[in-house]
Amino acid sequence: MLIEGRLTRTIWLEDDGASVGILDQTKLPFRIERARLASPEAVAHAISSMQVRGAPLIGAAGAYGLALALARDPSDASLRTAHDLLARARPTAVNLRWALDRVAARVRPLAQKARATAAFAEAGAICDEDVAINEGIGRHGLELIEAIAKRKKPGAPVNLLTHCNAGWLATVDRGTAISPIYAAQEKGLPVHVFVDETRPRNQGAYLTCFELGEQGVPHTLISDNSGGHLMQHGLVDLVIVGTDRVTAKGDVANKIGTYLKALAAKDNGVPFYVALPSPTIDFSVEDGVRDIPIEERSGEEVTHVVGIGQDGEVARVRIAPERTKAANPAFDVTPGAPRHRTHYRTRRRAGVARGFADAVSRPRGLRRLLAAGRPQ
Ligand code: MRU
Repeated sequence: MLIEGRLTRTIWLEDDGASVGILDQTKLPFRIERARLASPEAVAHAISSMQVRGAPLIGAAGAYGLALALARDPSDASLRTAHDLLARARPTAVNLRWALDRVAARVRPLAQKARATAAFAEAGAICDEDVAINEGIGRHGLELIEAIAKRKKPGAPVNLLTHCNAGWLATVDRGTAISPIYAAQEKGLPVHVFVDETRPRNQGAYLTCFELGEQGVPHTLISDNSGGHLMQHGLVDLVIVGTDRVTAKGDVANKIGTYLKALAAKDNGVPFYVALPSPTIDFSVEDGVRDIPIEERSGEEVTHVVGIGQDGEVARVRIAPERTKAANPAFDVTPGAPRHRTHYRTRRRAGVARGFADAVSRPRGLRRLLAAGRPQ
């Protein structure tokens, strides 16, 4: 997508072939800074500190992290150590483990001297596939937006609400939840996006507003508490969110606060969709509320906020009394079928509502989901 008018991906192999470039997302939207990562330790730090974040992007970063480890030392021990280090960087999004396992499975049977090259190639393939997946999600989601647009007065915008950042910045390119919005914009359909600020890390305010602004998509920032009110007053046509892990029965882990938006959408009959790339499905977990590990982050993310002052300097300020303790669960789980009828639309089976995916490689869970609910 565009950044300062230039087509840019969020991660790339640098020209030296021995380091990986990223946009440092902890600096956005106040500064556009790129960083160069040259070791698995640097990649693990970039993931845990959220210089790179978003489920698909941390998967891609992890894959490159493993390649960097193998370029330094291609032994089995190095592969194991780097895999463990990177997998521990963030626990909730399954894409990270998925990508690490995929690269490890690709290189393990190879002679040590061939491993690094193969790992870099696999990481590159993961990136390219992510873009293709997101374009597929965009096409499916566009159908949905088009159907809503047809029911509205000619020229009236389709009003979407999204939570956190599941856009271009959370993936290698295009985004998941935001991909259909870009597809609609490219087709000339009028769209407008309500963006949840998404406390405590403010990915909505900092990142989604930044990227929608860069692409020229009309949007309005709202506080996290506004969505239900807007839905009650008929101001939201469609909610689309991303996801960090979806279980076999359709439980959806996503940024903290997603569950409350799902409840408000259900209460108001507003369609609630999850944009789901297939690497985010975890068939090994049945009950998401019970078994998906929820990342606990520092309470300081709640007691403090980062912003830009009138002097143009970025500052971090405390917003609670000095000794206040804060809890900071970073994700929640919206139960899937049958309670919330979270279904998937796939490349192979169109027409299934409430969630759309690029493809489902193992149809076991999909069949169960199809049986559990009805298309809307
Ligand atoms: O903590 P973050 O910023 O990595 O959380 C990101 C989200 O929750 C996104 O909605 C999710 O990863 C889907 S991204 C396509």
